[in-house]
Amino acid sequence: GQHKLALTPPMGWNSWNVWGTAVDDAKVRAAADWLVRSGLASYGYNHIVIDDAWTSGRDDKGELKPNEKFPDMKALADYIHSKGLKFGIYSSPGPKTCGDFQGSYQHEAQDAATFARWGVDFLKYDWCSYDDVAQDRSLAELKKPYRIMGNALAAQNRDIVFNLCQYGYGDVWKWGGEVGGHMWRTTGDLLDMWANLDSVGFRQAGRERYVSPGRWNDTDMLVVGPVGWGPDLHPTRLTPDEQVLHITLWAMQAAPLFIGADLSKLDPFTIALLTNDEVLDVNLDVLAKAGGRVWSKDRTEIWSRPLADGTIAVALFNRGLDSHRIEARWSDLGLKGTQPVRNLWERRDLGNFDGGYAIEVPSHGAVMLKIGQAK
Ligand code: GLA
Repeated sequence: GQHKLALTPPMGWNSWNVWGTAVDDAKVRAAADWLVRSGLASYGYNHIVIDDAWTSGRDDKGELKPNEKFPDMKALADYIHSKGLKFGIYSSPGPKTCGDFQGSYQHEAQDAATFARWGVDFLKYDWCSYDDVAQDRSLAELKKPYRIMGNALAAQNRDIVFNLCQYGYGDVWKWGGEVGGHMWRTTGDLLDMWANLDSVGFRQAGRERYVSPGRWNDTDMLVVGPVGWGPDLHPTRLTPDEQVLHITLWAMQAAPLFIGADLSKLDPFTIALLTNDEVLDVNLDVLAKAGGRVWSKDRTEIWSRPLADGTIAVALFNRGLDSHRIEARWSDLGLKGTQPVRNLWERRDLGNFDGGYAIEVPSHGAVMLKIGQAK
């Protein structure tokens, strides 16, 4: 059943951040090719998700029609599956999607059946234009369209991961699982700008307690690598330190990791960021206890996350404008005595430390540690 899906945070690539409404069949196939060729697929990035802008109304039987840029959805799904990847697609509960394309309103069961027939493995289900048909702004009305589609997906003879995308309205993290969701957006759209990354990322503190296997807080697609929403592709506007902080914060939170970049243009730095297996191991840790803030002062924060092997992942964040020495004190982490410390980004044992470990953290940067003796 649906509840056994997405036992670790889903990973992959989504078309929106790079192609926006300019997405087409060839670009999606190319992304699938690159996911495999770059080696990213073997690290767990195994979904290819077509975001908005693929529909063109309905036919006379009410069937959702792909537009001219997607001549054969089933063939595209087969191609993606032939690469060993999973196929994701996008719709909205309202009459229209956020980009003003056809939505699933009043055709939910029919669309779920269409998706299953094509071989869809993942559905991102937005909110846009449901506002126009909602009775009111009550919690019941926020849940309703997701419950309808959640039930429609569960009725298919196919496993389809359900991604709710309604920006966190009504504290979706408290009820996204109850309506059949496996992951739910907790924020608006993440932009490749420091101020946005900083506010979206750190606003998640406290929501970690709602995370469990099959129930993930989705903090939106990653904004590392070249992105551009279609027409204005540009290198990410985040500095290297900001990119390290971005991936560290997402991994600490057990967030779904969807690359939003043009995969053919990823540079070695970004590839290295996305394929550090020690960092990914934290993100995918089977204990599935998402991390949260344990200490903060001015613009510095420490987050921690218990891991299945008995150690703790600890992230030191510097949100400030100047480099800062940050100390992880054992007393703040529930530790005692002498503890081994490893730097995960550097893949390096730092030695044994008594009472705490301190290090200079660059402005807008992060250091990610693993502390304690593995069982
Ligand atoms: C919303 C979502 C984005 C993307 C667009 C598509 O803004 O939050 O992730 O799906 O719609 O129009």
